[in-house]
Amino acid sequence: MDRRIVVTRTVPELALEILRAAGEVVVCGQDRPLTADELKEAVRGAHGVVAMLHDRVDGSVAEAAGPQLEVVANVAVGYDNIDVEALARHRVVVTNTPGVLVDATADLALGLLLAVTRRLGEGERLLRAREPWTFHLGFMLGTGLQGKTLGIIGLGQIGQAVARRARAFGMRIAYTGRRRADAAVEAELDARFLGQDELLRDSDMVSVHCPLTEQTRHLIDERALRLMKPTAVLVNTSRGPVVDEKALASALREGRIGGAALDVFEHEPDVDPGLLELDNVALAPHLGSATIETRTAMAELAARNVAAVLGGKPPVTPVTG
Ligand code: NDP
Ligand code: DGY
Repeated sequence: MDRRIVVTRTVPELALEILRAAGEVVVCGQDRPLTADELKEAVRGAHGVVAMLHDRVDGSVAEAAGPQLEVVANVAVGYDNIDVEALARHRVVVTNTPGVLVDATADLALGLLLAVTRRLGEGERLLRAREPWTFHLGFMLGTGLQGKTLGIIGLGQIGQAVARRARAFGMRIAYTGRRRADAAVEAELDARFLGQDELLRDSDMVSVHCPLTEQTRHLIDERALRLMKPTAVLVNTSRGPVVDEKALASALREGRIGGAALDVFEHEPDVDPGLLELDNVALAPHLGSATIETRTAMAELAARNVAAVLGGKPPVTPVTG
């Protein structure tokens, strides 16, 4: 019997070829996310689903699909959109795409950090508004990275890649997390392990790289922001809800921190209007993994996961919970 594989939004051809070899492929393909009802309708009878981070896949989606559903492959490393426990109860394997997006996301985190510390957006807006300007020694001064401390929350794959890049800019590395990193990683990055409060107090720049979980929702809240230096810059390329966006907008407006650089937002695709009004904020529309090479690799990995499970083999990159 041919297996039915539902792809909730179009993926690169290379991935489709892998999927077509594993079953009959249906690409939903709209230029917008499926609604919850459309998702349930689309997955009916599916053996495999290739999902995107805006698809909320829970037990009700597994029920709508039917008992033949074997695998849900998220085309993202973050899987906060998937109820992994509920799917496990339905004996559905969940996979994600770790590793292949590390460099692209770390590059963007550094790009955003530079954008806010060197006021690139502000400068570009000035030029595009055809405002008069001349070079002088006090014009549009930013902050250098050399010698500054970068505090990393979550020294996983992307956190480490950001630390490596920051070291090349002459930054010092501190990090926090649920546990210490391997001694070899600490040694390579000359990274100091700190408690979260200490890290927030000590860092000139803070970059967030933990997953969104019940423990990390609003990890950066009003209290955390009050611990940061008045000159500190917050970079978030993890998930929007890790930061309380309203509290962040207030802290920035009141000058309690120096700036922010955000790739992700609490209620995507919306952005808190308070943030849009501020000059000391660099913004990107969830572009962390958005290179041709990386998105192709992510889709290919997701397709290989589906093909493995439907072929009776272990998944390449399973989510273990
Ligand atoms: P990893 O799993 O390699 O790293 C995550 C790190 O966060 C681990 O070190 C983990 O530690 C740590 N962590 C977990 N819980 C906490 C906590 N409560 N407090 C502090 N640290 C914690 O994942 P990646 O580095 O590959 O990806 C990280 C996240 O980045 C993804 O989950 C995703 O949400 C986001 N992302 C965003 C992208 C974008 O486009 N903007 C692109 C790619 C990823 P432990 O070992 O204890 O679990
Ligand atoms: C992820 O992989 O979690 C990102 O948010 C998209 O690449």
